[in-house]
Parts: sequence; C-alpha cells; structure tokens
Amino acid sequence: MADSQRKILVTSALPYANGSIHLGHLLEHIQTDIWTRFQRMRGHQCYSVCADDAHGTPVMLKAQELGISPEQMVEQTRAEHHQDLQDFHVEYDNYYITHSPENRELSELIYRRLNDAGYISKRTISQLYDPEKQMFLPDRFIKGTCPSCGAEDQNGDSCDVCSATYSPTEVKNPRSVVSGATPVLKDSEHYFFDLPQFEGMLKDWLKSGAIQEEMANKLQEWFEDGLQQWDISRDAPYFGFEIPDAPGKYFYVWVDAPVGYMASFKNFCDANGVDFDSFWNKGTDTELYHFIGKDITYFHCLFWPAMLEGAGFRKPTGVNVHGFVTVNGAKMSKSRGTFIKGRTYLDHLNPEYLRYYFASKLNEGVTDIDLNFEDFVTKVNSDLVGKVVNIASRCASFISKKFDGKLAAELPEPALIAEFQNASESIAQAYEKRQYNRAIREIMALADKANQYIDAQAPWVTIKDEDKQLLTQQICSLGINLFRILMVYLKPVLPKLAEQAELFLNDQLDWTSAQRVLTDHNINAFKALMQRVETDKVNAVIEASKENLQAKTAGPAPDSPLAKDPIAATIEFDDFAKVDLRIAKIAKAEHVEGADKLLRLQLDLGGETRQVFAGIKSAYQPEDLEGKLTVMVANLAPRKMRFGLSEGMVLAAGPGGKDLWILEPHEGAQPGMKVK
Ligand code: MSP
Ligand code: ZN
Repeated sequence: MADSQRKILVTSALPYANGSIHLGHLLEHIQTDIWTRFQRMRGHQCYSVCADDAHGTPVMLKAQELGISPEQMVEQTRAEHHQDLQDFHVEYDNYYITHSPENRELSELIYRRLNDAGYISKRTISQLYDPEKQMFLPDRFIKGTCPSCGAEDQNGDSCDVCSATYSPTEVKNPRSVVSGATPVLKDSEHYFFDLPQFEGMLKDWLKSGAIQEEMANKLQEWFEDGLQQWDISRDAPYFGFEIPDAPGKYFYVWVDAPVGYMASFKNFCDANGVDFDSFWNKGTDTELYHFIGKDITYFHCLFWPAMLEGAGFRKPTGVNVHGFVTVNGAKMSKSRGTFIKGRTYLDHLNPEYLRYYFASKLNEGVTDIDLNFEDFVTKVNSDLVGKVVNIASRCASFISKKFDGKLAAELPEPALIAEFQNASESIAQAYEKRQYNRAIREIMALADKANQYIDAQAPWVTIKDEDKQLLTQQICSLGINLFRILMVYLKPVLPKLAEQAELFLNDQLDWTSAQRVLTDHNINAFKALMQRVETDKVNAVIEASKENLQAKTAGPAPDSPLAKDPIAATIEFDDFAKVDLRIAKIAKAEHVEGADKLLRLQLDLGGETRQVFAGIKSAYQPEDLEGKLTVMVANLAPRKMRFGLSEGMVLAAGPGGKDLWILEPHEGAQPGMKVK
C-alpha cells in the first residue's frame, strides 16, 4: 500500500428520533458504511459513529401524543433505528443518542467558549405563540390562508398552491396545528450566534476542497445574500438542553445535533481507550468526514464549521453531500406505497440487494438516486446472481467432486489473472472518491471476462475427457480464483456475501488478498450464495407500505369521542378476514440464550410444525406451557430475528410483565383448526 495508515473519523447525519428509518436514510448509511468498510480493508484506522437526534418540538409533541416521556420515546426509537441499520449490515462503532451526558457537557463547553469569545448576543424578538398550549410555535406548526393567493389550509412558511414563501406572521386566519387555537404574537428574549464574523474563514474553507464543487458554488449564494445572526435558543417547554445561566432557555436542536457527532465518539473513546482529542483538536493530522443529504448542507457547511472554529476545535476535512432517493422516478410517496421503511423492506428482501443497487448508482455528486424496481430486479439478478455468484457455482462442484476439494497447483492464463489484479488501484480510487458506480462497472466488466473464459473453456466438456483432468482442474481453479478477486473488490458493498464466500474459499479477504492466488488449497463445499430477487417480494414490500399508511389513517373521525382510545381504531372486514387464526399445540417451549423477553415455541398445527418466538418469558416457565393449546396467527410473514426465524405469532392478553396470559381454547379444539 502506497500511503501510510490514515486515522479517520466518519459520521452519518443523525436520524430524528420521531420516525422510522426509511430507504432515504438508508442511502446515506449504506454510502457511509461502504466507505468505512473500504478504508478498514485497506488497513486504515477508520472509526464511524452515528446517533439518534433526540431533541426539538416535534419529538416533544410526539411523546406527549403517545403518553410517554420524551426520554422513554427516544430511547425506544434509538434501539429500533440501531437494529434496522444493523440488519442492513450498517455497522457503527457507536450508535448513540444526542440526549446524553457527553453531549450536554460538550454543547455547554462549546457554548461557553463561543460566549467568552464574544460570539453570542441577546435580543428580544416577537413570535407566534399558542395561548392554549402555552408554547411558541415553530413555522411548521402554524397553518392558515396563503397571504398571496388566498388558498386555505397552507403551511406557516410557504404555499403549496402558488409556491409563495412568507413569514408565519403574514398568514391569514392562522391557527396552531397543536391545539387549533389562534396564535398570538408574544415577545421573548433569544440568544444569537454571530455567524457573519466567520465569513472569511467559511469562504476559505469552502474553497479548500472540503465540499463538492457544485455544492460550494451553490453556497456562494448565501454569501451574496449576506450571512445572518443565527437564533440558537428556544423557550420552554422544549425537549433539549438548557442553556447555561439562562433558565427556561434551551439550545435549538440544531446546536446540539452536530455536537452529537463528537459526543457519540467521546462515549466510544471513553469505553475503548481511544484518544478523543487527537480527532478534534486543531492542527491534528486525523481526518473527519460527514456524510449528509443535500437538505442539511446549510447546517453542516456554515453553522457547524463556524461553531467549531469559534470554540477552538478542528473543522471537517470533508462534508460529503448526497442527493435524495426517489422511487420509480418520483418523490417517495406514502399513498403509492413508495415511502418504504427499512423494516418493511427487510421483512421481504435481502438487504444486500439494496446495498448493491445503491452502490451501482451512487457517485460523488448530489443528483438524486432513483430506485426503479424493475431495474433493481434486473440488475441484482443479472449482475450478482447471474454473473458473480455464477462463476463460483459453475466451477465449485467439479473441484469438490473430482478433485477432493483441492485447487490446482498451477493456474493457466497469467495475463487474465494480472488483468484482475491490476484493476485493484483503479477500483480503490473509485471507492475512495465515492464513485461507487464506477467501481461496480469495473468489477462487472471483469466478471464478464471471467464468465467468457469459462464459457470458452467449457470445463463440463473437458471433464469427460480422461486426458484433460488436470486441465479441467486448472480451469475451475482459475475460475474460483477470479471469483475470489471479485469478492475482494465487492466486500465493502456486500459484507455478508463476502463472509459466505470466505467460508467457501477457506480464506480471509482484505484488499491486498487480490494480489495473491490460491493454489494447492482446499476449499469447502459450495452452497448457493444468493437467491434471485422475486418480483412478488418487491410487490409485497410496496403493498405492505400502503398498508402501513392505511394502518395509520384508519380509525374514527378525529372529532369522535373514540378518537383518543386506541382500541377504537376500526379496520375493514376484509382486513380481519386476512388474518388466519389457528389452534396450535405448544409441542415444546424453551429459553432463548441472550434474550430477556423471549421464549422459543415449537407449535404443532396438526401436521405442520412452526417455530415462533414469543415475548412471554416474564409470565411463563417453559415447562408450564408444553402441551397447552393456544391460538396463533398462522399467515404472518416469517420474520428473521436475531435468534432465528419466527413463523407466526401466538395470542396473549394482559398489560404485560407477569400479567400476561396466552389464550387457551377448550379441550375439544384440535391443532390446525381454523379460529372463526
Ligand atoms: N436530525 C437531522 C440531522 C442532524 S445531523 C447533525 C435530520 N434528520 S433526518 O432524519 O431528517 O435526516 C437524516 C438524513 O437522512 C439527512 O442527511 C437527510 O438528508 C437524509 N435523508 C432523509 N430523506 C432522504 C431521502 N429521501 N433521500 C436521501 N436522503 C434523505 O435531518
Ligand atoms: Zn398561495
């Protein structure tokens, strides 16, 4: 390797803790994860951190709606987000939360330094206030009539009908989305950060190559309009950190959110003995990169570097901005079923399909990335299954069956091997520059060559000729070696496939592995490495995404007295008819190692056995369950859990904990009977 070991810290933007991870988020996390894995494969020290963004008015209101504390809600969401990301094989060294002691401390430290250096000032401003809910209203919590065209029910800052933008105080007949009350203007003292003082520094920094040129050019507009003082405080009630020496005033969520990058890393460093300062002090030779979507460039390329500079910390080496995910050519839409949650995708499809598809489309620019499902199916099937995996499957069985699983002592075609090996630097450069689409193009061109070679040599023909046994072994051994080199190059994108390939090859792959070949080496039996994508499964994802929407909108009218009672949300008869309830006999029940809530049940459906994981450990000993009859949902899509596949769900009643009872039908019921 030409360059010596680099020390790198990488982050992805912190998802808000009041919604689910969706395919848009995943583009970013996958882009980051591929880059991180690539750097590690090259032997660099590369840390990656992320967190949930816990603070702000929307989080506070959502927790109120759910009747739980915001702390409870964001912790639940954090755990869910982290699990979703891990299931897409996105690995962070730490996935933390901004509502943390480290973040409070660092946010206060930065604020105090900025204040001491004279970058903070106070001024009274007048804002719309909800007199019923007794809180100031962010723009998006105000609706009313457009001052420009008169369209009703428009947002507090812009009109969907005539595209006018305005200040919320100009809206006619304004009302608070929170309570319906008419907002009033109210004065309050706010804290401001003196951004204009950083103009010169920011201009230089933007020219330093820290950000893509197209973005840097766009950012020039901000300077032309003149930088403004930035309002960094919000009044109580607010879920966030209180500003030091300012009772009732809180940091605006966008102040402590980027500090959350530091805090997540701090938490990791403290637990693992890593030197935090060497990554954040001025003048360090470590590198810092933020991966973000284009909508939050302003925060990362103006406020954040200015805050860091003002508080005496280093600035990012690079802010890597990406475009937005569209689905089938349009913005993700809930009603079309194209607003797809990560979990919904995972219920039906292999996460590596999506990793591969995004990689094949991502480049270093900020153009939007379209997920076209037809293209998705074709590309995954023809590239991954048809080209890459096919190379191994065409050669492996001959090696296993005819040559005792041993690769030949010598390989033919040194020029072909050299061509595969020589591609290493060009592909590495493509990953380094985030031109993943180019990396994939080059890898697939090589895969084509490998397949052409095998086609031309036709080992399935030569194997029949007694005189050509050694030749056949060599052809297949070369095929497997070419497959191996391709897996090296694909490993950052397809870590699970690479792991399976490593088992098959009986070898560990890092970037330099491509420069060696395996000869005289035992490989393991070949198992199918990847299934084809089925169009049905893709359709199931879209259908389920539409159902998510229905599940949300179904229910009594908002003004009905039943509206606040979750029991009362109605479903259509057709929805009910879809649920296949069956009598099941609990044939076996056992503890699950490492799970504190789950029991593993083996359910007898009268001829068919199902494995189901049920969260009833708090209420039952496994031995008390065996032999009991209960009711299960038999047509629930199987769900891959950490402990294995769960193929259905058993029904239980009660508030939880010890007070939980599985349903027990009368004796006469037989396993497999339909419940009506
Ligand atoms: N909480 C802030 C970020 C704070 S970083 C200090 C936030 N959260 S977000 O959940 O709305 O977005 C998180 C990231 O996902 C952002 O980089 C955003 O651009 C990205 N995306 C959200 N929707 C997206 C698409 N449809 N497509 C691609 N990326 C998208 O902003
Ligand atoms: Zn209008």
